[in-house]
Amino acid sequence: GADETFYASVGGEETFRRLVARFYEGVAADPVLRPLYPEEDLGPAEERLRFFLIQYWGGPATYHERRGHPRLRMRHVPFAIGPAERDAWLAHMRAAVDSLDLSPDQDETLWSYLVYAAGSMQNRP
Ligand code: HEM
Repeated sequence: GADETFYASVGGEETFRRLVARFYEGVAADPVLRPLYPEEDLGPAEERLRFFLIQYWGGPATYHERRGHPRLRMRHVPFAIGPAERDAWLAHMRAAVDSLDLSPDQDETLWSYLVYAAGSMQNRP
C-alpha cells in the first residue's frame, strides 16, 4: 500500500540479499575493484552493504546497531575511488539490479539513488 516502505514493496530482506550477493560476485572477479577490499573474505563487506541498504530503504536498523552512523564518505576515504572505480562499482550494481524483478518505477528509484551515491563516494579526480 501507499504507507509501505520501499524496502517492503520490493520484497524485503530477500531482495536485498539477492541484490548484494549478485553485486559481490561481480566485485570478486573484478581486477579494478577486488584489490581495494582489505579483507580476503568479502562476506563481512557484503553483510555491511546489505544492512546499510536495508536500513536506508526503511527496513530494520541493524546497520546502525552494528556500525553506528554510516558516515559513508568518510569510511571510503582510505580507498582511492576515481571514475574507473565508480564506473566499475556501478556496472556490477546495474547487473545486480537487472537480476531482480523490480517494476520500472522501483528500478528507477533504486538506480537513481545508486548513481547519485556512487558519485558522492568518488574521492579522486
Ligand atoms: C565499504 C568500495 C560505493 C556503501 C566499502 C569498502 C570498499 C568500498 C573497498 C570496504 C569494504 C568493507 O570492509 O566494508 C566502494 C567503491 C565504490 C563504493 C569502489 C564506488 C563508488 C559505495 C556506495 C555505497 C557504499 C555508492 C552506498 C550506497 C558501503 C558500505 C560500506 C562500504 C555501507 C561499509 C561501511 C562500514 O560500515 O564500514 N566500499 N564503495 N559504497 N561501502 Fe562502498
